[in-house]
Amino acid sequence: MHIALAASEGVPFSKTGGLADVVGALPRALVALGHQVSVYLPRYRQTKLFGAQTVVRSITIPFDDQYRFCSVATEGNHSGVNFYFIDYPPFFDREALYGTPAGDYPDNAERFALFSRAVLEATKILGVPDLFHCHDWQSALIPVLLRTQYAEDPAFREVATVFTIHNMGYQGLFPPDTLPLLTLPWDLFTMTKMEFFSQVNFLKGALVFADYITTVSRKYSHEIQTSEYGFGLDGVLRNRAATVTGILNGVDYDEWSPQKDKFIAARYSPEDLSGKAKCKQDLLAAFGLAGADPKLPLIGIVSRFAAQKGFDLISQIMDRLAREDMTLVVLGSGDKKFEEMFLRLQKQFPQKIALKVAYDNALAHKIEAGCDMFLMPSRYEPCGLNQIYSLRYGTVPIVRATGGLDDTIDPWDARTGKGTGFKFTEYNGEALLLTIKNALRAFRDQTSWLTLMRNGMSRDFSWNASAKEYIRVYEKARQFRSTPVAV
Ligand code: ADP
Ligand code: GLC
Repeated sequence: MHIALAASEGVPFSKTGGLADVVGALPRALVALGHQVSVYLPRYRQTKLFGAQTVVRSITIPFDDQYRFCSVATEGNHSGVNFYFIDYPPFFDREALYGTPAGDYPDNAERFALFSRAVLEATKILGVPDLFHCHDWQSALIPVLLRTQYAEDPAFREVATVFTIHNMGYQGLFPPDTLPLLTLPWDLFTMTKMEFFSQVNFLKGALVFADYITTVSRKYSHEIQTSEYGFGLDGVLRNRAATVTGILNGVDYDEWSPQKDKFIAARYSPEDLSGKAKCKQDLLAAFGLAGADPKLPLIGIVSRFAAQKGFDLISQIMDRLAREDMTLVVLGSGDKKFEEMFLRLQKQFPQKIALKVAYDNALAHKIEAGCDMFLMPSRYEPCGLNQIYSLRYGTVPIVRATGGLDDTIDPWDARTGKGTGFKFTEYNGEALLLTIKNALRAFRDQTSWLTLMRNGMSRDFSWNASAKEYIRVYEKARQFRSTPVAV
């Protein structure tokens, strides 16, 4: 099958979060199963290209006020996958991918509408796939366009679509006059299509028009069908429940394992963990804590700073957590509110919490390797990758039992010696503090702690199994497209 992925970021070319990890790794796993895969990404200023060549010189994208002309570049074949980049400097040659700390770019609707349309046009030249697999609101217009403006286009007659929700919290909401600006028909502006509380909702469009919908863990696929987690779209999803599946993200263990990691001070394995102590020393030094007692448990955080990630709970408990024997190292950037919160906590408890406000991939790897525990108290978490990376590094996850965090971490039971981490359910500071204290207590028994570490290290979340599940969904979507039922 020829599958074309369209997304707004992908490793190793561009990344702000886990979506990029998925878009970088899933295609290779699909190729390994014998499929042909093309990946379409925007060409940002940040996109790391080495020998890019233009393969399509000019594609015309109509907007209400003017025509825009973009091109397509390629880097050729990367591990069997063809990567293509939609090039339109006025939209993508900018300081950041989606916006600055001051907010999202005001023309994001146009930027990603141009991207989506350009992907469709580019495939007409570079090869129309059997199926488009689109990700998040930035490529959500592809399924919409295919069933509206492109519905009569013979090139796409039997092309199926699968749409993956990586995060219901980001929907692509724009004012109604966005529709005519993008030359989209007004009849999309109804409650059953893209209208959402008087705005145009790109994500909703995909949830209505895609043949099949997936999200990135089983638990999250159920959660988003409830009002608590659905961000107002739970009803739309319940209507489509028969076509919604949860497929857990895999991990690229070539990038994320202590045996191979090129960013860490010493490599180690479940059989020989001695390198992990060196990684801890190196990490403490990187955070200016070289004098700290290496025997004290070290807890790590690597994250986008966003309300989703549950950091308000840390602020609630920090004065009491500071009384415990532990140190917390934090790497993150994003929402100013949380950057300031962590800076304040660092000032208040300089012996207990060390912060780097940055986006730093090498340091993210060092934290995975050098910490004893990894903290993710998320309010919601579609999948979450860092807790899965942590398992492989013998860094024990402490998580809130939501979405993918709940699906990937089993609670530690010292009596049976089973389990991989610590979980709490209620979203409040007390529950978080109690769970961290349990973990700190368990850490004191180093013999059973080793069992706990090795339990996690032996878990396998490689892509192969999840890629097979995607293929099953792709096949269902194609079957549906080739024998459409009247709706
Ligand atoms: P999300 O996609 O919601 O941000 P995930 O856990 O799925 O959460 O993925 C986050 C990815 O981004 C991981 O690969 C993580 O290492 C990386 N990451 C997040 N913040 C930073 C940062 N400040 N520096 C380096 N890497 C980061
Ligand atoms: C989103 C989610 C995260 C998930 C990632 C990749 O950004 O917040 O939980 O792991 O996408 O699917």
